[in-house]
Amino acid sequence: MTKLKIYEYPHPVLKQKSERVAKIDDELRKFLDDMLETMYIADGVGLAAPQVGVSKRIVVIDVSAAEEEGAEKSPIFLVNPEIVWHSDEKGCQFEGCLSVPEQRAEVERYLQVRVHYQDYDGKEQEILADGLLAIALQHEIDHLDGILYIDRISRLKRQMLLKKLQKLRQEEEE
Ligand code: NI
Repeated sequence: MTKLKIYEYPHPVLKQKSERVAKIDDELRKFLDDMLETMYIADGVGLAAPQVGVSKRIVVIDVSAAEEEGAEKSPIFLVNPEIVWHSDEKGCQFEGCLSVPEQRAEVERYLQVRVHYQDYDGKEQEILADGLLAIALQHEIDHLDGILYIDRISRLKRQMLLKKLQKLRQEEEE
């Protein structure tokens, strides 16, 4: 497996709308494996293809380690995922993103979502999610439409967060 490069804000690939995947073949499965490996190495809960520079509607998620320490890995591969239903109720939780390193902010999301997608083998699947998985699904599917979680917070909070990110990068350079 190959560790992929993670693109960070403000790289333009993160703002692009991704294209649907036409065919799930061995080449795509190799990419799915690489994405998952990259996500585990980076200690992330989810990763969307645009974050590794590929404008395609692909997401990998594994919330198991975040929900329970030492839990068995339980990855979900989602190709062409689409939110087909969401609850009326929303809630606020802290989120981070591998493309916006070491920052966090509270984001409002639907508490429950139902997502339709194709799996690792190209089979049609549907998942009804709540909790962290529901948040991760909404966060990652946003990536496919060029939306980052920082686009969903107030302008003032975004400016503060981006200032901290800039400072962090300056310190890293020194
Ligand atoms: Ni993200």
